[in-house]
Order: sequence, then C-alpha cells, then structure tokens
Amino acid sequence: MLDLIREAFPDDDRDMEAFQLRFERYERQLTEGLRSVYPDAPDLVMRLLEVMLLAHHERPADLRRLDARRLLSPDWFQQESMIGYVCYADRFAGDLAGVEAHVPYLEELGTRYLHLMPLLRPRAGENDGGYAVADYREVREDLGTMRDLASLTRRLRQSDISVCLDLVLNHVAREHDWAERARAGDPKYRAYFHMYDDRTVPDQYERTLPEIFPDFAPGNFTWDAASGQWVWTTFNSYQWDLNWSNPDVFVEFAEIILFLANRGVDIFRLDAIAFMWKRMGTNCQNQPEVHAITQALRAVARIVAPAVVFKAEAIVSPEDLLFYLGRGAHHGKVSDLAYHNSLMVQIWSSFASRDVRLMERALSAFPNKPTNTAWGMYLRCHDDIGWAISDADAASVGLSGEAHRRFLSDFYAGEFPGSFARGLVFQHNPRTGDRRISGSGASLAGLEVALERGDAREVDLALQRLLLGHAVVLGFGGVPLLYMGDELAMLNDYGFEHEPTHAGDNRWVHRPRMNWERARRRHDPTTVEGLMYAGVRNLIRARTQTPHLHATVESRVVESPNPHVLVLERPHPLGPLLCAYNFSEVEQTLPGWVAHTRGLGVALDRLSERTLTVEETLVLPPYGRLWLTAPEDALSRW
Ligand code: GLC
Repeated sequence: MLDLIREAFPDDDRDMEAFQLRFERYERQLTEGLRSVYPDAPDLVMRLLEVMLLAHHERPADLRRLDARRLLSPDWFQQESMIGYVCYADRFAGDLAGVEAHVPYLEELGTRYLHLMPLLRPRAGENDGGYAVADYREVREDLGTMRDLASLTRRLRQSDISVCLDLVLNHVAREHDWAERARAGDPKYRAYFHMYDDRTVPDQYERTLPEIFPDFAPGNFTWDAASGQWVWTTFNSYQWDLNWSNPDVFVEFAEIILFLANRGVDIFRLDAIAFMWKRMGTNCQNQPEVHAITQALRAVARIVAPAVVFKAEAIVSPEDLLFYLGRGAHHGKVSDLAYHNSLMVQIWSSFASRDVRLMERALSAFPNKPTNTAWGMYLRCHDDIGWAISDADAASVGLSGEAHRRFLSDFYAGEFPGSFARGLVFQHNPRTGDRRISGSGASLAGLEVALERGDAREVDLALQRLLLGHAVVLGFGGVPLLYMGDELAMLNDYGFEHEPTHAGDNRWVHRPRMNWERARRRHDPTTVEGLMYAGVRNLIRARTQTPHLHATVESRVVESPNPHVLVLERPHPLGPLLCAYNFSEVEQTLPGWVAHTRGLGVALDRLSERTLTVEETLVLPPYGRLWLTAPEDALSRW
C-alpha cells in the first residue's frame, strides 16, 4: 500500500505525507467498515486507494488549505456562529449565478451554512423535487454547470459559508445510466439494483415493509416492462433503490463523494440513508450495515477531504437515530450531523395543545449524542410533517397517541374548531389513519388566517408564535436550519396546483419562490415581513453571542412547574444557560427558584439584552422567551 502511495507522489513529499498520515489514521475504520459488509471483496481497499489518490491529486489548493484549517478546528460545524439556510437555487434566485449574486443577502442574515436543495441533474418530468438523480456529475441544466457550482462554492468560501448538498444514496432515477443499462439486461448493472423475475420475493418483503408514499406510489416494488422485472422502489416508481450489498455501488459513491468534495461541497446530506440496507422480515430501515457502510465512506472522505462532514437524513425514532451519530463500535466514525425531527414535531404539537408536557417527555428520552456531533434543528423544511409521537410517550402524560396524532392532523389541516393553522393533508393512509401535513411555517402558525381576517392581534400572536419556535430551534445548540422565506414569514403558495409536475405533490405548497419584493421591505418595521425579519435577526445575533450554545453541550429538560412553559438548561463550563419558552397566548409565570437555584438571581437575558433581578416569579408574556445566563462581567467567576 505504501509503495502505491509513494509512487503516486514522485516529487511531492509534503503532499504524500499528508495523504499517508491520514490514510494511516483512518485505514482501520475503512477496512473494518468494509470487511463487515463486503467480506468477499478483498481487493476493495486497493480499488479505493486508487480512487482516493486520484481525487487527492485533483483536490484544488484552496480546498487543501480549508482541509488544514478545519483539521485545526474540528468543531467548526458545532460553533454557536453556525446558522444554516436552506433553499432551492432556482426558487431562491433563478440559478447558481443568481445565488452567487445574492450572497450579500445571505451574509446579512448571518448564514454560515447553505443547503442548496437537489441540484444534480434529475430525470426529466416528475423527479421528487430533484431526489431522482440521473447524473451525479452534472448540474441541472437550467441552474448552470459543474463549473458554476465550483465557482459558487468558492465565492461562498470567501464569506465563510459552507455548502451542503444532497447525496441521494438509497436510489437513482430510472433514467440514470446504471438503471438504463440494467433495463437493457447488462448483468453488471442489474446487480446494482434489487430486481426480481416475479412477485415471490417482493411479496415476502412486503409483509413487513411500510409504505412511504401510500397515496401516489403504493407498495415498494414496481414492474419494469423494459427488463421484465419487479424493481425495488421504496419511494416513487421512478426512483430505483440501489443494492448496497454490491461493492461496486460502494466504489461508485466513494468516487462521487470525492468528485463533489473537490468542487467545494462541505456537507453531504445523506438522503434517505435509513433505507439503504434490506433485510427480510424487517422494515428494511436502520439496519446495522448502514452504519458500517457510512463508517467506510466517512473514512474515504476523511483521508482525501478532511474539510468535509456528513449529515444523516434519518427521520427515525430516537433509539434508532443516535446510531447515525455513532453509538457503540461506530462512535465518532459516522455522520457528524443528524436532523432533530422530534424537536420539530414537538414544537408544532405544543403550539396546538399549548402544553409542553409531551415535549418534555420526548426530549428527556433522548440519550446524549457523541460530543463531536451536532443536531440540525428546524421548524420547517421542504418535507411534510409526520406526527412522530410514540404511544408510550403520549401515554406517560395521559394522552392516547392515536388520538393526539389525529388531533394534530385535524388542527394543522385547519379542521379542528378554533385552529389558527392552514395546512394541507399529505399522504392520507386509510389503513393506518396516518395523515401527514404540508404547509409553510407562517401559514401553519396562524399568519395566513390572521391576515385574511385582518385581525391585528392574531397577526401579532402568529408572529410571536413563529419567533418562539425559532427561538427554541436557535437556542438548542447544533446547526439551526432556516428554511427559505421563513425569515420573511412567507405564506403557503397554492400555485403548485397549476404546475403539472408539482400538482400531485402538495409539499410544493411550502416550497415557494422567493418573494424579493417582500425581501426589500425587510427593514421596514411597519410590515409583517419587517417585524419577522427583525425578530429572526435578533435571535441570530443573540445566538452568535452566546458561547453556551456550542454543540458539545446538551440541552436538558428542566421539569417545568408550569405546563405551558418549556424550560431547558445547557450546563456549559461558562455557567448555565437557562431557556424558558411560553407556549401559550396568555401571560405565564415561573417561580423564581428555577433561576435562583442555578445561581441566576441576577441574570442577563441574551434575547432582550436586559439584566434582570429575578424576584419571586419570572413573568413571560404571550409566547415569551428568555435565554438567561450570568451577566457578561460575572462569567469569569464560573
Ligand atoms: C428525503 C427527502 C424527500 C424525498 C425522499 C426520497 O426524505 O427529504 O423530499 O422525497 O428523501 O428521496
């Protein structure tokens, strides 16, 4: 192995040394990961070494410098200054050049992490919002070219904004070259997919498989007339699941990751990662092999592109989720980031019920994550909201899980009496009674209805509700992810109904085009967008000035004496950060001892920048929020 590395760097000692040291450091993680999944492919490491050497050679000088910088600050993505922004390049600014032109807007907001939604070349026509990729090495034509992407990432790097891209691991478009060859009967590529002559095996799997899109893509297998085969398609019929037990698939993705990393992608969002490994008799999610594969891919990235981190898109239960950040043997070796879906669901649940006991329960059940990882928190994203509330958690606070989930669907579909929300039901599954919800943050939080009614008080309450949700997200540590338009309280966009490729999928109701007209009014405090923007900017200011929010520290639930007020604590070496959030539209109080017992009798509220003397009670206005720490001048005493 060493000879191969030396041969590859005939006259560049420094480069060879850097590569060699990293290879030595991560070789074991690589081989152990591979061995447990591909025991019969002993040449795999040699094949990968060649791939890695080539990619290392091609890695541009500025990215190598970034590698060196990030190796010196491995916590770069855990810092309190991390603020994420998520957008579709076309919906935000037309194309990649447009995004480049709008970097000042992102800078003004405080963005340090930009997730550009799927932009690799998808299949023509319906493509699940770009999650049906036809070519991982090309950019969607109307957005620009690979060269434009590299130029955009360079520009963003100058502004210290890292770039997150989706890497769809579980499936490719039926029109991807691999699938086309498989359809034409090429045995090498047939082995890239799960293809069956008849329904015997699919039917056996179906017995334990859930349906992801029961509405528009029922079942998990699709008949492909071209090949005369049943093909595994967990999501839409045109998204073909890959067969990760084939080592060739692994090598393909190792190459793709390094190719994109060399174009400046910093964060890979591992889309639908939970579904990658299939095992008969299970729901084919969260299988142990997924983590071994991720460990090996992570080692490949660490050897060639240490600036890169992985983010798991695993929308699974807390017990399963922690494995994606590394538990047991994979500790510290898999993804660096994962979505905190539960926090998002619980915020919406508490908005509807005005009660935080279920949220307290759900958050307390989360084991600590590894200290070198971080949550990605969000109030809204491009997907629907599924009511991931366990029956056990619900029962422990005296609720029926089924009834509460039904209540939440009714509430956010706007059907529950007195509901402030306006959302749409997504994927009603009559068999399970499941009804997920689409809708923008602002519409779900009541702004659409309030504006329609012209009710100034309701408008204010909706804005405060939204800002409360964002405060919880920004005050949780990790990487808060603002979804495009949320900084301006943008409403549902019903125009999707008239776009033929979107009409069947109402998630497009919350994927609007950026309203730059609205954005221009963002500094005008007499407008709704101006109020929202100022509120969000203030939260970002407070967050970046609060070192207690570094992701190494956990947010812990403090059992609240008031069921309407969520209390979270972050025990930081600088002293505690105590967060209190009033989830109701009525003024609430907390007893003063909540602060006194933490040495916060005199405290700085980092949100209002006021120093408070906490007397008998702490008063929180409707949807009020507090981030209390010791005053700045007292921090040194801790
Ligand atoms: C992820 C995406 C979702 C997509 C699915 C299939 O869950 O967030 O939008 O439909 O993967 O790729």
